[in-house]
Amino acid sequence: MKCLPLAANLPRVLAIAAILVASAAPDLAAQTADSGSDARVHPAQARRGVALFQQHCHACHTTTQFQSAAFAEARAGRPVFELFDEIRTSMPQNAPGQLSAQEYLDIVVYLLELNGHATAEEELPVDEAVLQRVRFRGKRPSL
Ligand code: HEC
Repeated sequence: MKCLPLAANLPRVLAIAAILVASAAPDLAAQTADSGSDARVHPAQARRGVALFQQHCHACHTTTQFQSAAFAEARAGRPVFELFDEIRTSMPQNAPGQLSAQEYLDIVVYLLELNGHATAEEELPVDEAVLQRVRFRGKRPSL
């Protein structure tokens, strides 16, 4: 076989790389339309979450706790609704259910941001059907 220098192959290599990148990019419409896609984070919603976290959670939690491998592994691939429901029904520990559903969701979106979820152009709605469809990133380890 004749071995071409890399420079001659470069355009083809770049074209293949571009195709791979394009096919890996998340569908912008996935946030509400797709089933089982990773949840994505609207920056303004996450900023509201930061303020609420400072006010209602920070007394007992550091953000580091929610960026740990253990935290992510326990939730990988699970519907965002589970994390939302877990927090809504149990936190703040001294006054569970104290916040509105919208406020709990804003905090959850902030936690998703801390876990490296990609950016979205739409906010996640307080809608169980949507929150059941979008997932915490990562593959759930086989049990
Ligand atoms: C009065 C103290 C207190 C406050 C305020 C509080 N929590 Fe907690 N939270 C705890 C304790 C205690 C636990 C169980 C031990 C742990 O995992 O830290 C816990 C556990 C959790 C867990 C599970 C942790 C894990 O690693 O799986 C999440 C998620 C959580 N809290 C979120 C929140 C959020 C969000 C808020 C704010 C709305 C909040 N907490 C406010 C005390 C508190």
